[in-house]
Amino acid sequence: PIPNPPGPLPAHQDGLKLVNDPAHPFRTQQPNELRGPCPALNTLANHGYLPRSGVARPDQIVTAVMEGLNLGNDFAKFLVYQAFLMNGNPLTNLMSIGMKTPLTGQDPPKPALVGGLSQHGTFEGDTSMSRVDAFFGDPAAFNQTRFNDLLAFATKYGANGSYDVNAASELRYERLQDSIATNPQLVFTSPRILSAYSEAVFPTVYFVDGRLNNGQLSKDAATSFFANQRMPQDFHRQPTPVSFDVIEPLTGRLFKDHPFVPGVNQGVNNYVEMPNTPAVSDFCGIYEDIALRVIPGQYPKPTGALKDAIKKNLGFLYGAVSFQHNCTQVFPYGK
Ligand code: HEM
Ligand code: MG
Repeated sequence: PIPNPPGPLPAHQDGLKLVNDPAHPFRTQQPNELRGPCPALNTLANHGYLPRSGVARPDQIVTAVMEGLNLGNDFAKFLVYQAFLMNGNPLTNLMSIGMKTPLTGQDPPKPALVGGLSQHGTFEGDTSMSRVDAFFGDPAAFNQTRFNDLLAFATKYGANGSYDVNAASELRYERLQDSIATNPQLVFTSPRILSAYSEAVFPTVYFVDGRLNNGQLSKDAATSFFANQRMPQDFHRQPTPVSFDVIEPLTGRLFKDHPFVPGVNQGVNNYVEMPNTPAVSDFCGIYEDIALRVIPGQYPKPTGALKDAIKKNLGFLYGAVSFQHNCTQVFPYGK
């Protein structure tokens, strides 16, 4: 049986809180433990908000990001079920936050991937800020050179040398231009475009201490989360749950500064625009693209328990999107 997604944190338990606390000690990853492309989830695993193994159920991940960083419930579910559908095992209800592993159990039939969050071309994609594009190497591993660029953009564009929305805006644009110029296999289309823009602004919100909450991520705090995958000492989470209503205007601002058309490179410096794929602002379009194209690509004709599980998870994803967006539910496998 698949557990329903957790609801919001109870009122009065959803506020400012010390989250780098004695109950969640940092311990660096052990050789058998999996970490991946997301600095937030890696950090939550290193503090025991997520199983330290790096293998978790989607409901556990929803709870961890709410507890540890105060993601809003609907936004947490939107991220988690999207990722789980693309990278998790619907039969065992387990997902790796890193590379593919037998720990998620027996795979459903191919072309299902069950690749974990590190699986390139699903949620993980090109133009990341602290990782290289898959064409150049391991896209899940922290990359110091890339991260130095993030720090340099903070110095150049951010208030008080912080990584803020201005730094995020310029860095997001530069990462795309750099990949267009160097990565012959660049893919920058739905659903990756949405995560690329969200992830650029997440650090200006969730990685900033909730007592400060000024949108300015210091270089020290950035280094703590990105490079050390560790919460800063005495770190407090956001003072209220943070969801679409805060994140979307920020990503919208990035897009307005530097508009782009989704597309792919066909060779270096040959960016072919794909204007008919959903734009970054089109949440319903991206939801539909995941539900009608991406997931059926991995699960063309599921049957039995597998089909039931996928339909359930698609329902959870729709539930999350429809909380603040007027999308129409779609049913790739029938109602
Ligand atoms: C990447 C932050 C939640 C999956 C990233 C990146 C950031 C980030 C900053 C970009 C790293 C880079 O570009 O170098 C956060 C924050 C979260 C959060 C602050 C919530 C508090 C999640 C959740 C999932 C997820 C819930 C899925 C279950 C991923 C994946 C990537 C990623 C797959 C790799 C995408 C890529 O850069 O290619 N995350 N994340 N994240 N995150 Fe998260
Ligand atoms: Mg990437």
